[in-house]
Amino acid sequence: MEAQLTNTIQVTNAPTLELSDIQATVLRPRPSPYKGQYLIIRIDDATQGREMLRRLIPHVAPADDWWAPTLPGWLAVAFTFQGLKALGVPQASLDSFPQEFREGMAARASILNDVGNNAPANWEYPFGTTDAHVAIAVYAKDEQSLDTVLERARQSQQDLPGISIIYRLKFSELPEGRNPFGFKDGLHNPQVEGSGADVHPGYGAAIKAGEFVMGYPDELGEAASGPEPEVLRINGTFLAFRKFHMGVAAFRKYLRDQASSPEEEELIAAKMVGRWRSGAPLALAPERDDATIGADLDRNNDFSYEDDMRGLKCPFSAHIRRVNPRDALKNEIVAVNLHQCLRRGTNYGPPLPEGVLEDDGEERGGVFILIGAHLKQQFEFVQSQWVTDGDFINQGAEQDPMIGNKRVDGTFTIPKLPVRRRLHGLPQFVDVRGGEYCFMPGLRALKWLAGLNGESS
Ligand code: HEM
Repeated sequence: MEAQLTNTIQVTNAPTLELSDIQATVLRPRPSPYKGQYLIIRIDDATQGREMLRRLIPHVAPADDWWAPTLPGWLAVAFTFQGLKALGVPQASLDSFPQEFREGMAARASILNDVGNNAPANWEYPFGTTDAHVAIAVYAKDEQSLDTVLERARQSQQDLPGISIIYRLKFSELPEGRNPFGFKDGLHNPQVEGSGADVHPGYGAAIKAGEFVMGYPDELGEAASGPEPEVLRINGTFLAFRKFHMGVAAFRKYLRDQASSPEEEELIAAKMVGRWRSGAPLALAPERDDATIGADLDRNNDFSYEDDMRGLKCPFSAHIRRVNPRDALKNEIVAVNLHQCLRRGTNYGPPLPEGVLEDDGEERGGVFILIGAHLKQQFEFVQSQWVTDGDFINQGAEQDPMIGNKRVDGTFTIPKLPVRRRLHGLPQFVDVRGGEYCFMPGLRALKWLAGLNGESS
């Protein structure tokens, strides 16, 4: 799906961002089909950490021509706060990073509502520990290109005993670009001003680059003033890495129990997401799925909630209306733009065969990389206010029906005439398996990091 996006993007504006210095993953969607791996690395020796980085840098892809990538595979690299420490970044520089990044995702659990199953105590190793230092993402269009890039990553650690790969997760596209629940994914991402491309209708006005990349003005006209030094900051950004387990059997079973027909199951599923499985938004196809809209990149984002202020088409609580209320929060367009992230999602694990309602014990789900220059007002705000609370839409403690943690009674309200329908007892469909906040520097900044202590980069 996302490759279609890249293939059809019109390049109408000269980029004003320094694309050759920004990492490709910030702007570039994954290929379709895609294959890849996430690696997490621990650095026990700072000098060897910087040597690894020097070897990696030539293979880190810049965002040049991101709308028409020529590379069959590419690599992205990012660091946790512990990772920057392990590389030997000076204390004054460490202290200049935003507090949420310095604390790390696990320490922010109470703000993020990562409680119960989602609590850091239940996360997989090495998430939330001081061992997770460097995150590498490798994206490729096929197995062969993946092997080539992985080999480069392997060579960067060769003969460096102070460097260990402590986590590896393979990911790949599921049939038809669906997620494990069966929904088309990767349909919407904000348009970044100055990135050089005009996307399809419905993406809204381009959002100021400073929301996503440091060194440029943001929606408030300000440019980030930390971290220091400037060379480290310019063209860098932050990301929230989240690994989710998806309870596909539980989701199917819940739908079956609530519905009296297969058609009604599909309707309830669509109401939870705000789109039909084909990707067609309820705002445009409120009664039944219209796969032609789902597949049409000029239409599947070209909608507004303006004529649906009672949520009769798309419920207030539907996932996509919560996480991006577009024009549904009256007169708050600017505020909505302050809470956007670029999303780079991938899926892992085998699909659960069609029709199966019992869990087969397989690990399957998605990994999301939510990219933005302001973790606190972007990922943390969306997760704490829009996903795991219902106040902003006058729904009390009701959470996102797909990804909420159902700490209270799991309800989901579907506005309807003459009376609304309220579903109860929603199980938790998605469990957090782990996560980290990372800093993704620009390419010059990577060289600065590799050259700390005067080593030549
Ligand atoms: C397992 C977890 C998740 C699942 C299954 C999921 C599923 C989906 C699906 C099916 C869509 C519609 C297609 C698309 O545009 O890609 C979507 C859109 C979106 N999701 Fe999620 N999502 C998950 C986690 C998250 C998280 C953690 C966030 C942010 C905190 C998020 C933010 C968004 C946004 C911003 C959109 C675009 C909304 C729009 O159309 O304007 N999602 N998600």
